Amino acid sequence: SAQLNELAVRAGLKYFGTALREGAINNDQQYARILGDTREFGQLVPENGQKWDATQPNRGQFNFQSGDITANTAKRNGQGLRCHTLVWYSQLPGWVSSGSWNRQTLESVMKTHIDNVMGHYKGQCYAWDVVNEAVDDNGNWRDNVFLRVFNTDYLPLSFRLAKAADPDTKLYYNDYNLEYNQGKTDRAVELVKIVQEAGAPIDGVGFQGHLIVGSTPTRQQLATVLRRFTSLGVEVAYTELDIRHSRLPASSQASIQQGNDYANVVGSCLDVPGCVGVTVWSFTDKYSWIPETFQGEGDALIYDRNFNKKPAWSSISSVLAAA
Ligand code: G3I
Repeated sequence: SAQLNELAVRAGLKYFGTALREGAINNDQQYARILGDTREFGQLVPENGQKWDATQPNRGQFNFQSGDITANTAKRNGQGLRCHTLVWYSQLPGWVSSGSWNRQTLESVMKTHIDNVMGHYKGQCYAWDVVNEAVDDNGNWRDNVFLRVFNTDYLPLSFRLAKAADPDTKLYYNDYNLEYNQGKTDRAVELVKIVQEAGAPIDGVGFQGHLIVGSTPTRQQLATVLRRFTSLGVEVAYTELDIRHSRLPASSQASIQQGNDYANVVGSCLDVPGCVGVTVWSFTDKYSWIPETFQGEGDALIYDRNFNKKPAWSSISSVLAAA
């Protein structure tokens, strides 16, 4: 029977993809086998390997070992690659976040980073998350070293530097909780406009989609918020989808609800021309960032810990098959 990426492509999306956990791929054959099935996942994104702390832990010292795990796996399997991420306050080494910079010196640090990292993966990335999580949950600009030095000028600057480093990849702004269409979403809309009005290139907005079972907006609400961005002339995608149970173990009713929530998210992407694909932030409950961050929550993915397909998998496959 058909698998998720096959169904997604038939339904008109470009891909159904997953994050790759660098620590798991070489030690877990079952994980590697499902992840490498192009019928299931048409695109991969490194969970951590391309971030600043992995790629340039010390100034001028570049390391692509971890990022290459995903790039090489994708190449070997004939899968696409999403690339993540360049300008982000988190997983940013101390030499950057606590350096004493002015515009000139920080721009030069950003340029060196972007040139080297994008240069290394040039021609391989469908898209790059150029700027990640620049807005806080209250809708304010998120405090970070870039904002302190440049105010919002770091936004167009980042996209300009990215375009110069790899002109042929899609340049994305990527964030979470945009799905709820509140103040944070308004600010992200403003961000896109700031970049566009500065004459800098931006091609897409990534909805991370770190959602909660039972609190996920409806398919129609989600389509409405996606359209706020596509109407600005950028594409959109769900880039880090997972829908966690806030109480564990999940009841069978909660598992069905989780499936319905996944179907609403994927369905909203099908409803909006300009929504290009869906990526889950890992695919098995065996490997997820959630339990470390939200104590007692989790089981947010589409396969269980033993690699059995969950109701969420079936709900996604049904909504894709119906398109
Ligand atoms: O670097 C150390 C390594 O030296 C050590 O051996 C290892 C042992 O635990 O820990 C390593 O650091 C961990 C890192 O992942 C790499 O595995 C951190 O403790 C851990 O906090 C970090 O978590 C990642 C998180 O981003 C960091 O912000 C998660 O795996 C990753 O799933 C998560 O992904 C983010 C997206 O990039 C952006 N959107 C939100 C999403 C979830 O937070």
